[in-house]
Amino acid sequence: MSKKIRVAVLYGGRSGEHEISLQSAASVVKNLDTSKYEIIPIAIDKQGRWHWNEAPKLLAKVGKSLPIDPSAPEVILPAGPSSEESGTKVVLAHQNTQLPQPLQSFDVVFPVMHGPLCEDGTIQGLLELADVAYVGCGVLSSAVGMDKDVAKRLIRDAGLPIVPYIAVKHGDWLRSSSQIKSQVTREIGYPCFVKPANMGSSVGVHKVSSADGFDAAMNDALKYDTKILVEKAVSAREIELAVLENSQYGEEPLVSTAGEIAPTHDFYSYEAKYLDENGAALLIPAKILPHELELAQSIARRAFAALDCEGLARVDLFMDKNTGAFYFNEINTLPGFTQISMYPKMWEASGISYRDLLSRLIELAITRHERKQKLYREYCP
Ligand SMILES: Nc1ncnc2c1ncn2[C@@H]1O[C@H](COP(=O)(O)OP(=O)(O)OP(=O)(O)O)[C@@H](O)[C@H]1O
Ligand SMILES: [Mg+2]
Repeated sequence: MSKKIRVAVLYGGRSGEHEISLQSAASVVKNLDTSKYEIIPIAIDKQGRWHWNEAPKLLAKVGKSLPIDPSAPEVILPAGPSSEESGTKVVLAHQNTQLPQPLQSFDVVFPVMHGPLCEDGTIQGLLELADVAYVGCGVLSSAVGMDKDVAKRLIRDAGLPIVPYIAVKHGDWLRSSSQIKSQVTREIGYPCFVKPANMGSSVGVHKVSSADGFDAAMNDALKYDTKILVEKAVSAREIELAVLENSQYGEEPLVSTAGEIAPTHDFYSYEAKYLDENGAALLIPAKILPHELELAQSIARRAFAALDCEGLARVDLFMDKNTGAFYFNEINTLPGFTQISMYPKMWEASGISYRDLLSRLIELAITRHERKQKLYREYCP
Protein backbone atom coordinates (compact mmCIF):
# COMPACT_ATOMS: atom_id res chain seq x y z
CA MET A 1 0.00 0.00 0.00
CA SER A 2 1.35 3.42 -0.89
CA LYS A 3 2.11 5.91 1.85
CA LYS A 4 -0.57 8.40 2.85
CA ILE A 5 -0.18 12.04 1.81
CA ARG A 6 0.40 14.23 4.87
CA VAL A 7 -1.96 17.21 4.71
CA ALA A 8 -1.27 20.12 7.04
CA VAL A 9 -4.62 21.79 7.70
CA LEU A 10 -3.77 25.39 8.58
CA TYR A 11 -6.54 27.07 10.56
CA GLY A 12 -7.40 29.93 12.91
CA GLY A 13 -5.39 32.97 11.88
CA ARG A 14 -5.10 36.61 12.86
CA SER A 15 -8.29 37.92 11.27
CA GLY A 16 -11.80 38.78 12.38
CA GLU A 17 -12.88 35.51 10.77
CA HIS A 18 -10.81 33.36 13.17
CA GLU A 19 -13.88 31.63 14.65
CA ILE A 20 -15.38 30.89 11.22
CA SER A 21 -12.06 29.32 10.30
CA LEU A 22 -12.27 26.96 13.32
CA GLN A 23 -15.68 25.86 12.04
CA SER A 24 -14.49 25.49 8.45
CA ALA A 25 -11.49 23.46 9.66
CA ALA A 26 -13.74 21.17 11.73
CA SER A 27 -15.72 20.30 8.60
CA VAL A 28 -12.60 19.85 6.51
CA VAL A 29 -10.96 17.39 8.94
CA LYS A 30 -14.23 15.45 9.28
CA ASN A 31 -14.59 15.13 5.51
CA LEU A 32 -10.99 14.48 4.37
CA ASP A 33 -10.57 10.99 2.95
CA THR A 34 -8.43 9.37 5.65
CA SER A 35 -7.76 6.34 3.44
CA LYS A 36 -5.59 8.68 1.34
CA TYR A 37 -4.60 11.47 3.70
CA GLU A 38 -2.98 11.81 7.08
CA ILE A 39 -4.28 14.96 8.79
CA ILE A 40 -1.88 17.30 10.57
CA PRO A 41 -3.80 20.16 12.20
CA ILE A 42 -1.66 23.29 12.48
CA ALA A 43 -3.41 26.07 14.38
CA ILE A 44 -2.57 29.76 14.12
CA ASP A 45 -3.69 31.46 17.31
CA LYS A 46 -4.99 35.03 17.49
CA GLN A 47 -1.49 36.29 18.28
CA GLY A 48 -0.22 34.69 15.08
CA ARG A 49 1.72 31.80 16.64
CA TRP A 50 1.61 28.46 14.85
CA HIS A 51 0.95 25.29 16.90
CA TRP A 52 1.63 21.71 15.87
CA ASN A 53 -1.19 19.54 17.18
CA GLU A 54 -1.15 15.86 17.95
CA ALA A 55 -3.78 14.82 15.44
CA PRO A 56 -5.45 11.92 17.27
CA LYS A 57 -5.70 13.93 20.51
CA LEU A 58 -7.19 16.96 18.78
CA LEU A 59 -9.38 15.14 16.29
CA ALA A 60 -11.07 13.26 19.11
CA LYS A 61 -12.26 16.62 20.44
CA VAL A 62 -13.60 18.09 17.21
CA GLY A 63 -17.19 19.31 17.37
CA LYS A 64 -18.62 22.27 15.52
CA SER A 65 -15.19 23.93 15.78
CA LEU A 66 -11.67 22.53 15.63
CA PRO A 67 -10.10 23.62 18.93
CA ILE A 68 -6.67 25.22 19.38
CA ASP A 69 -4.35 23.80 22.01
CA PRO A 70 -2.14 26.71 23.12
CA SER A 71 0.26 24.33 24.89
CA ALA A 72 1.03 22.47 21.66
CA PRO A 73 4.60 23.01 20.40
CA GLU A 74 5.22 25.98 18.16
CA VAL A 75 5.98 25.47 14.50
CA ILE A 76 8.85 27.26 12.80
CA LEU A 77 8.55 27.13 9.04
CA PRO A 78 11.90 27.47 7.29
CA ALA A 79 12.18 30.48 4.99
CA GLY A 80 13.59 28.28 2.25
CA PRO A 81 13.06 24.89 0.63
CA SER A 82 13.67 21.72 2.61
CA SER A 83 14.16 18.17 1.37
CA GLU A 84 12.01 17.33 -1.62
CA GLU A 85 11.78 13.62 -0.99
CA SER A 86 10.47 13.57 2.53
CA GLY A 87 8.18 16.59 2.32
CA THR A 88 8.52 20.02 3.87
CA LYS A 89 10.30 19.89 7.19
CA VAL A 90 9.43 22.19 10.04
CA VAL A 91 11.09 22.67 13.40
CA LEU A 92 8.98 22.38 16.53
CA ALA A 93 9.82 24.19 19.72
CA HIS A 94 8.14 23.63 23.08
CA GLN A 95 7.16 26.94 24.64
CA ASN A 96 8.53 25.91 28.03
CA THR A 97 11.95 24.65 27.07
CA GLN A 98 12.51 26.39 23.74
CA LEU A 99 14.45 23.28 22.82
CA PRO A 100 13.99 22.29 19.22
CA GLN A 101 12.05 19.06 18.91
CA PRO A 102 12.72 16.48 16.23
CA LEU A 103 11.86 17.67 12.76
CA GLN A 104 8.36 17.01 11.53
CA SER A 105 7.16 17.14 7.96
CA PHE A 106 4.15 17.29 5.68
CA ASP A 107 3.49 17.08 1.93
CA VAL A 108 0.89 19.72 1.26
CA VAL A 109 -0.78 22.59 3.12
CA PHE A 110 -4.53 23.20 3.07
CA PRO A 111 -5.11 26.76 4.34
CA VAL A 112 -8.63 26.89 5.81
CA MET A 113 -8.62 30.52 6.92
CA HIS A 114 -10.46 33.62 5.87
CA GLY A 115 -9.84 37.35 5.68
CA PRO A 116 -6.76 39.59 5.89
CA LEU A 117 -3.44 37.86 6.71
CA CYS A 118 -5.10 34.53 5.77
CA GLU A 119 -6.38 34.71 2.21
CA ASP A 120 -4.73 37.93 1.04
CA GLY A 121 -1.47 36.47 -0.27
CA THR A 122 0.58 36.84 2.91
CA ILE A 123 0.36 33.19 4.01
CA GLN A 124 0.65 32.17 0.37
CA GLY A 125 3.92 34.15 0.13
CA LEU A 126 5.32 32.39 3.17
CA LEU A 127 4.41 29.01 1.70
CA GLU A 128 6.02 29.96 -1.63
CA LEU A 129 9.28 30.82 0.15
CA ALA A 130 9.21 27.49 1.96
CA ASP A 131 8.54 25.82 -1.43
CA VAL A 132 5.48 23.97 -0.15
CA ALA A 133 2.55 22.69 -2.18
CA TYR A 134 -0.62 24.43 -0.99
CA VAL A 135 -4.30 24.46 -1.88
CA GLY A 136 -5.86 27.41 -3.66
CA CYS A 137 -4.89 30.69 -5.21
CA GLY A 138 -1.31 31.92 -5.35
CA VAL A 139 0.10 35.19 -4.00
CA LEU A 140 -1.11 37.48 -6.77
CA SER A 141 -4.72 36.32 -7.09
CA SER A 142 -5.10 36.04 -3.32
CA ALA A 143 -3.92 39.62 -2.84
CA VAL A 144 -5.98 40.98 -5.71
CA GLY A 145 -9.07 39.06 -4.59
CA MET A 146 -8.85 40.67 -1.15
CA ASP A 147 -8.74 44.21 -2.54
CA LYS A 148 -12.21 45.04 -3.83
CA ASP A 149 -10.91 48.04 -5.78
CA VAL A 150 -8.05 46.34 -7.64
CA ALA A 151 -10.20 43.24 -8.30
CA LYS A 152 -12.93 45.40 -9.85
CA ARG A 153 -10.47 47.25 -12.05
CA LEU A 154 -9.22 43.95 -13.52
CA ILE A 155 -12.76 42.64 -13.87
CA ARG A 156 -13.77 45.80 -15.74
CA ASP A 157 -10.68 45.44 -17.91
CA ALA A 158 -11.85 41.92 -18.83
CA GLY A 159 -15.11 43.42 -20.13
CA LEU A 160 -17.24 42.11 -17.26
CA PRO A 161 -19.96 44.23 -15.63
CA ILE A 162 -19.43 45.99 -12.29
CA VAL A 163 -21.52 48.52 -10.37
CA PRO A 164 -20.18 52.11 -10.73
CA TYR A 165 -17.94 53.05 -7.80
CA ILE A 166 -15.12 55.33 -6.77
CA ALA A 167 -12.23 54.42 -4.47
CA VAL A 168 -11.27 56.97 -1.83
CA LYS A 169 -7.93 56.83 -0.01
CA HIS A 170 -7.72 58.07 3.58
CA GLY A 171 -5.28 60.81 2.60
CA ASP A 172 -7.60 62.08 -0.18
CA TRP A 173 -10.51 62.18 2.27
CA LEU A 174 -8.49 64.19 4.79
CA ARG A 175 -7.41 66.66 2.11
CA SER A 176 -10.55 67.07 0.01
CA SER A 177 -13.68 65.64 1.58
CA SER A 178 -16.00 68.26 0.10
CA GLN A 179 -14.79 67.62 -3.48
CA ILE A 180 -15.20 63.89 -2.87
CA LYS A 181 -18.76 64.42 -1.64
CA SER A 182 -19.61 66.45 -4.74
CA GLN A 183 -18.12 63.73 -6.91
CA VAL A 184 -20.23 61.10 -5.12
CA THR A 185 -23.42 63.14 -5.64
CA ARG A 186 -22.54 63.67 -9.31
CA GLU A 187 -21.20 60.27 -10.30
CA ILE A 188 -22.64 57.73 -7.84
CA GLY A 189 -25.78 59.24 -6.26
CA TYR A 190 -27.78 58.06 -3.26
CA PRO A 191 -28.41 55.55 -1.88
CA CYS A 192 -24.84 54.32 -2.05
CA PHE A 193 -22.71 51.75 -0.25
CA VAL A 194 -19.58 52.74 1.64
CA LYS A 195 -17.23 49.82 2.30
CA PRO A 196 -13.62 49.16 3.28
CA ALA A 197 -11.61 47.80 0.32
CA ASN A 198 -9.97 44.96 2.23
CA MET A 199 -12.38 43.71 4.87
CA GLY A 200 -14.88 40.89 4.89
CA SER A 201 -17.98 39.82 6.78
CA SER A 202 -19.62 43.20 6.01
CA VAL A 203 -17.50 44.83 8.73
CA GLY A 204 -17.58 48.61 8.24
CA VAL A 205 -20.11 48.36 5.36
CA HIS A 206 -22.84 51.07 5.34
CA LYS A 207 -25.82 51.81 3.18
CA VAL A 208 -26.06 55.59 2.98
CA SER A 209 -29.39 57.06 1.92
CA SER A 210 -28.45 60.73 1.60
CA ALA A 211 -25.47 63.10 1.76
CA ASP A 212 -26.27 63.70 5.45
CA GLY A 213 -25.05 60.27 6.51
CA PHE A 214 -22.01 60.16 4.26
CA ASP A 215 -19.33 61.54 6.62
CA ALA A 216 -20.30 59.20 9.48
CA ALA A 217 -20.18 56.18 7.15
CA MET A 218 -16.79 57.18 5.74
CA ASN A 219 -15.33 57.78 9.20
CA ASP A 220 -16.51 54.39 10.41
CA ALA A 221 -15.27 52.54 7.31
CA LEU A 222 -11.90 54.28 7.69
CA LYS A 223 -11.47 52.55 11.06
CA TYR A 224 -10.98 49.29 9.19
CA ASP A 225 -9.04 50.27 6.10
CA THR A 226 -7.19 53.15 4.47
CA LYS A 227 -9.06 52.71 1.16
CA ILE A 228 -12.85 52.90 0.89
CA LEU A 229 -15.21 52.05 -1.96
CA VAL A 230 -18.23 54.26 -2.54
CA GLU A 231 -20.56 52.31 -4.76
CA LYS A 232 -23.95 52.86 -6.34
CA ALA A 233 -26.58 50.83 -4.45
CA VAL A 234 -28.37 48.37 -6.67
CA SER A 235 -31.62 46.68 -5.82
CA ALA A 236 -30.29 43.23 -6.41
CA ARG A 237 -30.55 39.53 -5.70
CA GLU A 238 -27.28 38.08 -4.42
CA ILE A 239 -26.19 35.15 -6.58
CA GLU A 240 -23.05 33.09 -5.85
CA LEU A 241 -21.16 30.46 -7.83
CA ALA A 242 -18.40 28.05 -6.90
CA VAL A 243 -15.46 27.77 -9.28
CA LEU A 244 -12.99 24.88 -9.26
CA GLU A 245 -9.85 24.56 -11.36
CA ASN A 246 -10.12 21.79 -13.93
CA SER A 247 -8.17 18.63 -13.04
CA GLN A 248 -7.26 18.46 -16.74
CA TYR A 249 -4.52 21.07 -16.87
CA GLY A 250 -5.30 23.83 -19.36
CA GLU A 251 -9.03 23.08 -19.59
CA GLU A 252 -11.67 25.63 -18.57
CA PRO A 253 -12.45 25.80 -14.84
CA LEU A 254 -15.63 24.09 -13.63
CA VAL A 255 -18.49 26.24 -12.37
CA SER A 256 -21.21 24.96 -10.06
CA THR A 257 -24.90 25.65 -10.13
CA ALA A 258 -25.81 29.01 -8.60
CA GLY A 259 -26.84 29.66 -5.03
CA GLU A 260 -28.75 32.65 -3.73
CA ILE A 261 -28.49 34.52 -0.47
CA ALA A 262 -31.72 36.30 0.38
CA PRO A 263 -31.10 38.52 3.42
CA THR A 264 -34.10 39.34 5.62
CA HIS A 265 -32.37 42.62 6.59
CA ASP A 266 -31.95 45.77 4.52
CA PHE A 267 -28.71 44.23 3.17
CA TYR A 268 -26.44 41.30 4.03
CA SER A 269 -24.89 43.03 7.04
CA TYR A 270 -22.69 41.60 9.81
CA GLU A 271 -25.85 41.18 11.94
CA ALA A 272 -27.62 39.28 9.15
CA LYS A 273 -24.54 37.08 8.58
CA TYR A 274 -23.61 36.14 12.13
CA LEU A 275 -25.92 37.50 14.82
CA ASP A 276 -29.41 36.80 13.51
CA GLU A 277 -30.09 33.10 12.99
CA ASN A 278 -32.79 34.05 10.49
CA GLY A 279 -30.73 36.83 8.90
CA ALA A 280 -30.81 35.27 5.45
CA ALA A 281 -32.22 32.37 3.51
CA LEU A 282 -29.62 30.34 1.59
CA LEU A 283 -31.12 28.80 -1.52
CA ILE A 284 -29.37 26.17 -3.62
CA PRO A 285 -30.04 26.08 -6.49
CA ALA A 286 -30.99 29.71 -6.97
CA LYS A 287 -34.32 30.11 -8.70
CA ILE A 288 -33.09 31.67 -11.91
CA LEU A 289 -33.84 30.75 -15.52
CA PRO A 290 -31.49 28.45 -17.47
CA HIS A 291 -30.18 31.26 -19.70
CA GLU A 292 -29.58 33.42 -16.60
CA LEU A 293 -27.65 30.59 -14.98
CA GLU A 294 -25.55 30.17 -18.10
CA LEU A 295 -24.71 33.88 -18.13
CA ALA A 296 -23.86 33.90 -14.40
CA GLN A 297 -21.62 30.85 -14.87
CA SER A 298 -19.80 32.44 -17.75
CA ILE A 299 -19.17 35.64 -15.72
CA ALA A 300 -17.84 33.52 -12.82
CA ARG A 301 -15.57 31.52 -15.13
CA ARG A 302 -14.20 34.64 -16.80
CA ALA A 303 -13.72 36.40 -13.44
CA PHE A 304 -11.70 33.42 -12.16
CA ALA A 305 -9.48 33.65 -15.24
CA ALA A 306 -9.24 37.46 -15.21
CA LEU A 307 -7.89 37.44 -11.66
CA ASP A 308 -5.45 34.58 -12.40
CA CYS A 309 -7.12 32.32 -9.83
CA GLU A 310 -6.01 28.75 -9.20
CA GLY A 311 -7.64 25.96 -7.24
CA LEU A 312 -10.88 27.48 -6.06
CA ALA A 313 -12.88 30.65 -5.59
CA ARG A 314 -16.42 31.69 -4.84
CA VAL A 315 -17.70 34.43 -7.13
CA ASP A 316 -20.47 36.67 -5.76
CA LEU A 317 -22.70 38.50 -8.22
CA PHE A 318 -25.53 40.98 -7.96
CA MET A 319 -28.55 40.40 -10.19
CA ASP A 320 -30.58 43.58 -10.71
CA LYS A 321 -34.15 42.89 -9.56
CA ASN A 322 -35.57 45.15 -12.26
CA THR A 323 -33.46 44.47 -15.33
CA GLY A 324 -32.03 41.01 -14.55
CA ALA A 325 -28.53 42.33 -15.37
CA PHE A 326 -25.62 40.68 -13.53
CA TYR A 327 -22.73 42.55 -11.90
CA PHE A 328 -19.56 41.15 -10.39
CA ASN A 329 -19.48 42.06 -6.68
CA GLU A 330 -16.51 40.19 -5.27
CA ILE A 331 -14.41 37.04 -5.27
CA ASN A 332 -13.47 34.97 -2.22
CA THR A 333 -10.34 32.92 -2.75
CA LEU A 334 -10.72 30.93 0.49
CA PRO A 335 -14.49 30.76 0.91
CA GLY A 336 -16.21 29.38 3.99
CA PHE A 337 -15.94 25.61 4.29
CA THR A 338 -18.33 24.89 7.16
CA GLN A 339 -20.87 22.11 6.75
CA ILE A 340 -23.47 24.71 5.72
CA SER A 341 -21.19 27.01 3.69
CA MET A 342 -22.21 27.92 0.16
CA TYR A 343 -19.01 26.74 -1.58
CA PRO A 344 -19.14 23.02 -0.64
CA LYS A 345 -22.96 23.05 -0.74
CA MET A 346 -23.04 24.38 -4.30
CA TRP A 347 -20.64 21.61 -5.36
CA GLU A 348 -22.72 18.98 -3.62
CA ALA A 349 -25.73 20.26 -5.58
CA SER A 350 -23.64 20.01 -8.75
CA GLY A 351 -22.55 16.40 -8.20
CA ILE A 352 -19.20 16.73 -6.38
CA SER A 353 -19.31 15.53 -2.77
CA TYR A 354 -17.50 17.42 -0.01
CA ARG A 355 -14.98 14.55 0.28
CA ASP A 356 -14.23 14.48 -3.46
CA LEU A 357 -13.96 18.24 -3.54
CA LEU A 358 -11.23 18.17 -0.86
CA SER A 359 -9.37 15.38 -2.69
CA ARG A 360 -9.52 17.29 -5.96
CA LEU A 361 -8.19 20.47 -4.32
CA ILE A 362 -5.27 18.59 -2.76
CA GLU A 363 -4.44 16.89 -6.06
CA LEU A 364 -4.52 20.26 -7.83
CA ALA A 365 -2.14 21.72 -5.22
CA ILE A 366 0.34 18.87 -5.64
CA THR A 367 0.33 18.89 -9.44
CA ARG A 368 0.73 22.69 -9.55
CA HIS A 369 3.73 22.46 -7.23
CA GLU A 370 5.29 19.74 -9.39
CA ARG A 371 4.67 21.80 -12.51
CA LYS A 372 6.25 24.90 -10.99
CA GLN A 373 9.27 22.98 -9.79
CA LYS A 374 10.07 22.09 -13.38
CA LEU A 375 10.38 25.75 -14.35
CA TYR A 376 13.91 27.07 -14.81
CA ARG A 377 14.80 29.69 -12.23
CA GLU A 378 17.81 30.84 -14.18
CA TYR A 379 18.51 31.58 -17.80
CA CYS A 380 19.59 28.40 -19.57
CA PRO A 381 20.75 29.07 -23.13
N1 LIG B 1 -23.49 48.19 -4.43
C1 LIG B 1 -24.28 47.49 -3.63
N2 LIG B 1 -25.61 47.46 -3.85
C2 LIG B 1 -26.43 46.76 -3.04
N3 LIG B 1 -26.04 46.05 -1.98
C3 LIG B 1 -24.71 46.06 -1.69
C4 LIG B 1 -23.78 46.76 -2.51
N4 LIG B 1 -22.54 46.58 -2.00
C5 LIG B 1 -22.70 45.79 -0.91
N5 LIG B 1 -24.00 45.48 -0.72
C6 LIG B 1 -24.54 44.67 0.40
O1 LIG B 1 -23.58 44.60 1.43
C7 LIG B 1 -23.12 43.25 1.61
C8 LIG B 1 -21.63 43.24 1.95
O2 LIG B 1 -20.88 43.82 0.91
P1 LIG B 1 -19.66 43.08 0.19
O3 LIG B 1 -20.08 41.73 -0.24
O4 LIG B 1 -19.15 43.99 -0.85
O5 LIG B 1 -18.54 42.99 1.31
P2 LIG B 1 -18.25 41.85 2.41
O6 LIG B 1 -19.42 40.94 2.43
O7 LIG B 1 -17.87 42.55 3.64
O8 LIG B 1 -17.08 41.02 1.92
P3 LIG B 1 -16.93 39.41 2.08
O9 LIG B 1 -18.08 38.81 1.31
O10 LIG B 1 -15.58 39.19 1.50
O11 LIG B 1 -17.06 39.06 3.52
C9 LIG B 1 -23.51 42.55 0.32
O12 LIG B 1 -23.68 41.18 0.52
C10 LIG B 1 -24.82 43.25 -0.02
O13 LIG B 1 -25.90 42.77 0.76
MG1 LIG C 1 -19.78 39.75 0.47
